[in-house]
Amino acid sequence: MIVRHYRGSYEIEFCLTEGAFKEFPADSFVITDENVARLHGPAAPVSRPIFAVAPGEQSKSFQVVERLVDWLAESGASRNSTVVAWGGGVIGDLAGLVAAVYMRGIEFVQIPTTLLAMVDSSVGGKVGIDTGKGKNLVGAFWPPSQVRVAVGFLDTLDPRDWKSGMAEVIKYGLIMDEALFAQFEEMEWTSVEDWRPIVERCIELKRQVVEQDEFETLGLRATLNFGHTIGHAIEAATNYAGPSHGEAVAIGMVIETRLAERLGFCPSGTASRIAECLALQGLPYSAPPGLNPESLVEIMQRDKKATERRLAFSLLTRVGECKLFGGVPREEVLATLTNG
Ligand code: GLY
Repeated sequence: MIVRHYRGSYEIEFCLTEGAFKEFPADSFVITDENVARLHGPAAPVSRPIFAVAPGEQSKSFQVVERLVDWLAESGASRNSTVVAWGGGVIGDLAGLVAAVYMRGIEFVQIPTTLLAMVDSSVGGKVGIDTGKGKNLVGAFWPPSQVRVAVGFLDTLDPRDWKSGMAEVIKYGLIMDEALFAQFEEMEWTSVEDWRPIVERCIELKRQVVEQDEFETLGLRATLNFGHTIGHAIEAATNYAGPSHGEAVAIGMVIETRLAERLGFCPSGTASRIAECLALQGLPYSAPPGLNPESLVEIMQRDKKATERRLAFSLLTRVGECKLFGGVPREEVLATLTNG
């Protein structure tokens, strides 16, 4: 599959785990995390210089970028070198930003190892790090030169990461492809190979979005945030110690659809249909008790999609279709959060 972007295009190639590093440019430098190196190193031997950072969001920092840039320079990386991001979304975002700034930008290849990274963050060129003031506050659009997807890497994915990826996949079905969503209403999964056509379909859907609205200026790419406005608010309100990202997005998708029903944008019964599907897949569908609706709305008003504190949501118009709605009245959001 080819993805076109402002500087050219890149290929998304499906491969076996053991082929992930085959025929690599000689001048490549691999950035990964300690977990990925330990879990997958034996099956996917890397014959290039490799730097493993600590796993987790805290590695998306200026300090780690500086360490990686120093490592590239000390290792002799040039303008013609390639950075390889081998890992989940954190590694893709971090290594991509390093590639975007090292010597004013060098090529990078994405080898995602989590479901979320395969279906979302490795495609579309968003790279970035966090600062004390917010997530992804420093970043760029820096498309990869290739993405290599080996679903075999999913074999060792922990349940929390599965849920994050699963929520994202169900989201693609809800916003763009009813048949994809319907698969999750009846199916339980047994092997990672079941996932290959699903991963492929999600990447194809993301390709359609990012090719049309690469820089998120037309309201289309922003629809990928369905479930995320309320999901992020729940994560922030629980100090990132409550529901995981995937769980929060799952809950967010149901509440945002209740909001869409309340506003008359989508048929009633849609939120219940989504909740049933999420329950079948082991995902939560209602907010943890004790959250204050006013505080959640306050967090949402600081969301990147909100303009001058006016609330914006990507909302379903039916299962399989979604639109960005600006200026959603605060009282409607509060009433939805309070009464369901
Ligand atoms: N993860 C949303 C986007 O790539 O725009």
